[in-house]
Amino acid sequence: MMLEIAGTGRTWLLSGPTSSYAVHLTEDDELLHLHWGPRIALADAESLAVRPLPGYWPFEAPLDGREEYPVEGGPRFVRPALSVRTDERRGTEWRFEAYETEDGGEGGEGDELRLRFRDSELVITLHYRMRHDVVERWVTLTHDGGEGTGPLELLRADSATWTLPERDDWRLSQLHGRWAAESRLVRTDLTYGEKVIGSRRGHTGHQHLPWVALDTDATEERGEVYACALGWSGSWRIAVAQLPDARVQITGGAGYDDSGLLRLAAGESFTTPVFAGLWTDSGHGGASRAWHAYQRAFVVPDADRDRPVLYNSWEATEFDISEEQQGTLARRAAAIGVELFVVDDGWFGARTSDRAGLGDWTPNPDRFPAGLKPLAEYVHALGMQFGIWVEPEMVNPDSDLYRAHPDWVQFQPGRRRTELRNQLVLNLAREDVREYLWEQLDGLLSSTPVDYVKWDFNRCFTDAGWPGEDYPQRLWVDHVHGLYDLLDRLRAAHPGVAFESCSGGGGRIDLGVLARTDQVWTSDNTDPLDRLAIQEGFSQIHPARVMAAWVTDSPNTQLNGRVSSLRFRFVSSMAGVLGVGGDLTKWTEEELAEAGEWVALYKEIRPVVQRGDLYRLRRPAGGLSAVQYVLGDETVVLAWLQAQHYGEPVPALRLRGLDPSATYECPETGEIYRGAVLLHRGLRTGLKGDLDAAVFRLRRVR
Ligand code: GLA
Repeated sequence: MMLEIAGTGRTWLLSGPTSSYAVHLTEDDELLHLHWGPRIALADAESLAVRPLPGYWPFEAPLDGREEYPVEGGPRFVRPALSVRTDERRGTEWRFEAYETEDGGEGGEGDELRLRFRDSELVITLHYRMRHDVVERWVTLTHDGGEGTGPLELLRADSATWTLPERDDWRLSQLHGRWAAESRLVRTDLTYGEKVIGSRRGHTGHQHLPWVALDTDATEERGEVYACALGWSGSWRIAVAQLPDARVQITGGAGYDDSGLLRLAAGESFTTPVFAGLWTDSGHGGASRAWHAYQRAFVVPDADRDRPVLYNSWEATEFDISEEQQGTLARRAAAIGVELFVVDDGWFGARTSDRAGLGDWTPNPDRFPAGLKPLAEYVHALGMQFGIWVEPEMVNPDSDLYRAHPDWVQFQPGRRRTELRNQLVLNLAREDVREYLWEQLDGLLSSTPVDYVKWDFNRCFTDAGWPGEDYPQRLWVDHVHGLYDLLDRLRAAHPGVAFESCSGGGGRIDLGVLARTDQVWTSDNTDPLDRLAIQEGFSQIHPARVMAAWVTDSPNTQLNGRVSSLRFRFVSSMAGVLGVGGDLTKWTEEELAEAGEWVALYKEIRPVVQRGDLYRLRRPAGGLSAVQYVLGDETVVLAWLQAQHYGEPVPALRLRGLDPSATYECPETGEIYRGAVLLHRGLRTGLKGDLDAAVFRLRRVR
């Protein structure tokens, strides 16, 4: 990336490979947005900066729709990104202090621009960093008053406000859902006023991924798209406002309400999560590929290492597990080529159902008399890695932990403690709770050869109280920081262990958790057809490299009883990090042999799926849908036919991302294709009937 600064020291231009972002500080220290779009030069940015502000009428504010970080107070009527209260007053009136740049040491990619402002004892620093074409923005708020200065209450402290240019007919894309139906894409016209999405549940939530995209007439592969995503795993809010002059502003950050986020005493500071944004002219597909490349390069740990094929028996056995039964499943899993065997819920404490045991992270003595080590060693001897499930932030009232520390949970004094799935939320804002969890988990990972941890979170906050604490409200933010600290500490102490973020499926998927987990559990819905739409939405922002997908039993046991072939189930799950979650003791010899072939095929295409560029060729909309991945000379196409109607031929798939003049060969059949023909006429899939699917591989002939 490139960071250019005007001679006046009041205009800054950040540029990535294809896009630029510019801001300007007026003589009155108003920080205005200048440009976000194709690459421009510093002189272009400066020419935009001299444009005078429109006149001021008593009913309009000239700053509205132009400011980088609108604060509360003064002549502003847009949603404030910052709202601060002291004992005496409310609102912010800042003066510019200085700008700083920092060399991030990543070949320019990590370079950071910091703009520092002050309002009395409050120091406000706006951070900008461009990585590839993704602009990362966040804010630091510091109370640097001397002793005896009163506290500052941050009622609201958003990470950024993004300003989009004047355009006709903006459209908004979002990813909405619920449990077992996450991340489904909807695209609608934006009208005047505000559209607000978020979570007031304490976790990211199944209801919305913290992402929006705005376009006017983009298609999958062409046209202008703006997209923003928040890196925060607690409650959050993103407000998309269509202003009267057809500009759009997107303001987002931690916390759902404006009623109080944190209180800063003298010497304390708060850093907001990162709100990342990108502009592209390559359509929604181009935006997704830019997000994927950014996350693989800068967010997800060890993203250049491919994730293994896992087995998990949760759907097959639920809580009814034993060492012997897990051993039997492990043998079968190893035989079909599984590389990571995971013991899900039910291995610890008195956890034989969801009524007891959460909080007691020691192996259940009836089920694992010698602990987990013998099973872990057995799994290792079978040539697989060993993984476990945990849900550290929770406790069942029926547990030794709760009996010993009933005050360690979130609760309001004198009120009922709401149980959801028979569990309460531990107050991770408390140091003693975090220390207990650290000891339990560090002890577990030190005493058992564990390679992978599935970290679950199975209920929302309901009684977010903290009796005895001055400012209990802070637990919403501090819980998330507590979670991040624990994950960071565990990763540092156990660098060989991979982590998966799960929250009843896809309830905690965001750029914040992905910076400290290796993959996520996409959804508890493992129906291979429903999954196509869930995966399509997921792929708008997150790469296949983190999208766990299991092949489970048919008829589908969890949701809908749908019957589907092993072929359809495998090809559906091969679009991400392949896993198997069926009851392998009930699969026939033929099914196990076929599963082995699919797993072997997946291992061959895995680098292309997990590291390649994704092209969504056709949406899952009832008929034929397909995705394509391209990595170097290799191309993989996964195609699914939901239902064929009226005997009509299934359309050919026009591929993307190929060289028209090159020749491509299918390694299995030896068939040869010309790039131009695949791009123009397309690939015939031969799919027919209902729920058919296929994998196609092509290699460029050199
Ligand atoms: C959640 C997860 C499931 C499983 C269960 C165990 O619902 O999403 O995959 O781990 O918890 O209780």
